[in-house]
Amino acid sequence: MTLWFTAALIALTGAVRAEVLLSADEIEQALSFGPWPPSFHTDPSNRVSNNARAIALGEALFNDPVLSVDGAFSCASCHDPEQAFTTPEARALGRVLLDRNTPSLRNLAGLRWYGWGGKSDNLWAASLHPIIEEQEMAHSPESLKTAMSESAYTNDFEAIFGVIQNQGPELVLVNAAKALSAYLGTLVTDRTQFDDFRDALERRDFPAAAYYPEAAQRGLQLFLGRGNCVFCHNGPRFSNNEFHDAGVPYFLNETEVDEGRFSGLNFLLSSPYTLEGDWNDDPDRQGAWAVRNVRRSHADFGTFRTPSLRGVAETAPYMHDGSLKDLNAVVRHYSKINTERLHADGEAILSQLNLSEQEIADLVAFLMTLSKAPY
Ligand code: HEC
Ligand code: HEC
Repeated sequence: MTLWFTAALIALTGAVRAEVLLSADEIEQALSFGPWPPSFHTDPSNRVSNNARAIALGEALFNDPVLSVDGAFSCASCHDPEQAFTTPEARALGRVLLDRNTPSLRNLAGLRWYGWGGKSDNLWAASLHPIIEEQEMAHSPESLKTAMSESAYTNDFEAIFGVIQNQGPELVLVNAAKALSAYLGTLVTDRTQFDDFRDALERRDFPAAAYYPEAAQRGLQLFLGRGNCVFCHNGPRFSNNEFHDAGVPYFLNETEVDEGRFSGLNFLLSSPYTLEGDWNDDPDRQGAWAVRNVRRSHADFGTFRTPSLRGVAETAPYMHDGSLKDLNAVVRHYSKINTERLHADGEAILSQLNLSEQEIADLVAFLMTLSKAPY
């Protein structure tokens, strides 16, 4: 009885002592990371993006090796639904070792750019490329059409998109990608401890907000303040979805570099699958201004899309090449960043933070609360 009482008292006094450390300004900034989840986003460029049958077909196709020419892979081989839609390897293993880390596929609806280098401006194009990419699933539109017409999905596919034999191979490819994209558009990370904190702040319910650990609050203060992480990791997804050089080495080997956004733009500007192209279902071409106006410049070399930090604790290793093994390593990377090496112009925003061990632990504690426990 006494023991129980003491424990309760400690819990109670602990709760009473806890407080919200944020200033009024910091609270305002914290609110900008929500609300979460976002409302469902239909994709006007994909007429089946809100179609329940297409979503179900997309999920089935995603998990089925029928999308690779020899049945060697499914999308899920690299984007494993059991592992937050990624795999723990630093760089993805396709038919050869690919140059980049496999991104987790959650929270992708409605972005302006897709891929580390932004080679797509819409989600169905980003879903289409791996099907025909030689180092990945290696289908041709023709072999895909044959595979789809001989698969277990023929009826579902035809119920949504019409008779396969009446469709050209490229249309079959685009339709399959639109079903995949309809499914991917539904993947959203769960609410987290951070969201409870943020919403309590919005309600001005400070006793409830005070349940958010103080270490995470101090980490958030660094994220907003001295760390200036919020410059790039902002909004409800913690990403500006633009391209930056965050100081990760971009040499693939002694002679080759990963050009990042530069090669992404080369690809994008010659792709038939952009919002400007014929396969866009939206007569108004919403969003196509981006691809229409984008230009390559030297500053694009070695820049990569700012990743979202939602669910980040579940998706180690980190960065476009998977070179940093955990969140602690990422924070240490920013703390000791070599600014001489930042090659893109105008990244003056990053500087050596020289964080103390306590500050490193606080920033990691904050980042952890952007995922749903247990991690
Ligand atoms: C061999 C491993 C592998 C397979 C198989 C694979 N992917 Fe990926 N996926 C990757 C990698 C690596 C990237 C990052 C590529 C880049 O940005 O250069 C990626 C990127 C993506 C993106 C962009 C994500 C973002 O954050 O912008 C989407 C969407 C995607 N894949 C969907 C799919 C679909 C759908 C399939 C099946 C048709 C598939 N992937 C098959 C490894 C794979
Ligand atoms: C100038 C923009 C910018 C700033 C400022 C910035 N980041 Fe990043 N962040 C990026 C980009 C770009 C990447 C991907 C870099 C790459 O892969 O080469 C990244 C990657 C990450 C990742 C890895 C995510 C993943 O899925 O691989 C984490 C975690 C992260 N940043 C946290 C932080 C923290 C914490 C701070 C502040 C100390 C910070 N970032 C400041 C742009 C920025």
